[in-house]
Amino acid sequence: MTTTGRDLTHPAPEPFHLAALPLRNRLAVAPMTRVSATPDGRPTAQMVDHYRESASGGFGLITTEGIYTDTTHSQGYFNQPGLVTDQHVEGWQAVVEAVHSGGAAITAQLMHAGAISQGNSRGFQPIGPSAVRPRGQMMVDYGGAGGAWVCPERCRQAISTT
Ligand SMILES: Cc1cc2nc3c(=O)[nH]c(=O)nc-3n(C[C@H](O)[C@H](O)[C@H](O)COP(=O)(O)O)c2cc1C
Repeated sequence: MTTTGRDLTHPAPEPFHLAALPLRNRLAVAPMTRVSATPDGRPTAQMVDHYRESASGGFGLITTEGIYTDTTHSQGYFNQPGLVTDQHVEGWQAVVEAVHSGGAAITAQLMHAGAISQGNSRGFQPIGPSAVRPRGQMMVDYGGAGGAWVCPERCRQAISTT
């Protein structure tokens, strides 16, 4: 209740069930790329601290940054985390434990960069549903070269195995 007598009750700070997942409130962190994993995609101590801070800040749910899902074409930029190898899983376990100890839930955003991959630490070229060069330019802030995107020429062949 405010000094003017208006009722400010709102469901956002109240506990909530997202399907079977109990949340302490409805406040969620959107996925935000951080470019701070190791070159081979392992989550770092810096990432553990970052996600822990969001959890201790009171959010109910935290969505991770976009995570690549294979060790071939899915990576979108250098220093992006993956969730493929045992080392990746181990790194994310530390993040999850930090978030849970801060009282929040966490979901993983799994992504395949497709044609707009601008950095792949294993050297794979981008693939996409069609061999069309994306408009615009690669983003330097994400480790891209800054020039035109690469045309995903191998798409049809590679998609069948992705
Ligand atoms: C630095 C930064 C990194 C982002 N990284 C991702 C990402 O990894 N995955 C994603 O789906 N969206 C990403 N986004 C988009 C945010 O999730 C988006 O801005 C958020 O959903 C808010 O959307 P709105 O501006 O439409 O409210 C990013 C945004 C920013 C500012």
